[in-house]
Amino acid sequence: MARVYFSKFLLLFMCASAAYAHTHIRNVIIDGEVLDRGKCIRPYEKNFNFPVSSVKSPELVCRTTNMSANATDICDIQAGATIILEFHEEAGRDSVGIDPSHEGPCLVYMAPLSSNGAGNVWFKIFEQGYDAKTDKWCIDTLDDASGKLRVTIPADIEDGDYLLRGEIIALHAASDIGGAEIFPNCVQIRVSGGGSAKPSGVAIPGVYKEDDPGILFDLESDYTTYQIPGPKVYEPESTPHPISEDGNTTVADDDIGTEDDDGNNDNGSDDNNDDDDTSTDTDSGANINVIGGVFRRLIGSLATAALAFLY
Ligand SMILES: *[C@@H]1O[C@H](CO)[C@@H](O)[C@H](O)[C@H]1NC(C)=O
Ligand SMILES: *[C@@H]1O[C@H](CO)[C@@H](O)[C@H](O)[C@H]1NC(C)=O
Ligand SMILES: *[C@@H]1O[C@H](CO)[C@@H](O)[C@H](O)[C@H]1NC(C)=O
Ligand SMILES: *[C@@H]1O[C@H](CO)[C@@H](O)[C@H](O)[C@H]1NC(C)=O
Repeated sequence: MARVYFSKFLLLFMCASAAYAHTHIRNVIIDGEVLDRGKCIRPYEKNFNFPVSSVKSPELVCRTTNMSANATDICDIQAGATIILEFHEEAGRDSVGIDPSHEGPCLVYMAPLSSNGAGNVWFKIFEQGYDAKTDKWCIDTLDDASGKLRVTIPADIEDGDYLLRGEIIALHAASDIGGAEIFPNCVQIRVSGGGSAKPSGVAIPGVYKEDDPGILFDLESDYTTYQIPGPKVYEPESTPHPISEDGNTTVADDDIGTEDDDGNNDNGSDDNNDDDDTSTDTDSGANINVIGGVFRRLIGSLATAALAFLY
């Protein structure tokens, strides 16, 4: 009898973990300002934290079935500046990042807003996959950074309105065709101070095939490399002109992405600055968030355990 309860407990525990195992871009941070949930982000649907499971789905663009629904705002940002995309499992700020079982890469694309995401319009501006040296996936460094993904807007692109599409591809079930779980969201931004570049783009959907090595991938295999799917990252022609960084270390010292406050890459590999991703400093509040997330999961599991015994 005890054994039956135990396996039910385990099963429900696993289900409880899975229920938390999804994510969405809850909010963005621009110039050190933490914007409200959903501000400048294409409207979420009911299952806002559920993945897109087909690389052919029209929802692969912005995780919405209605591309006519605009965000209520377009957020201003300087070309060459950074934007922080905050991934959260749930709607509240206390659930950060994504469940650690969901190993996989992070990718960010841009397209002119006037295209509304249709056609060969998407150029990639950021990617991070698997680092064999540290044995960390992007989502590991993302979780270390309390869900914050920091991305630099190319300094040379034309001024104008864009969709910025942040994406996580979770690979825990990706050893089967259609098993990869894809979590995109689109932010509407208005870029100024840029140049004249119009990077060439690819179509979404279309950019990934279900058997791409970065989409059909066995996390249980003995891998040492991972090939990030999609096109190469766009390299700006001009170096970013100096801009006042968002520089507000109270929110931006623990993120990941292309440029750190100190100009070092801060993706979790070999950064030795004091404010790096994995440091245990407590002034940022990030670790409190992580603990909060763990605590919340524990409560969830306990509640489920209680259910199991009731059952
Ligand atoms: C899509 O969004 C637009 C703009 O908000 C709205 O007018 C339209 O009714 C929506 N379509 C559906 C099918 O919900
Ligand atoms: C969405 O915004 C575009 C311009 O960016 C505009 O042409 C279109 O009419 C808007 N759609 C709705 C439903 O407001
Ligand atoms: C992190 O950055 C370093 C230096 O740019 C790079 O060699 C490494 O591959 C990056 N790691 C990942 C996971 O992208
Ligand atoms: C960061 O933000 C806080 C609170 O808004 C503010 O008091 C502080 O001066 C800012 N620091 C910098 C370096 O901008």
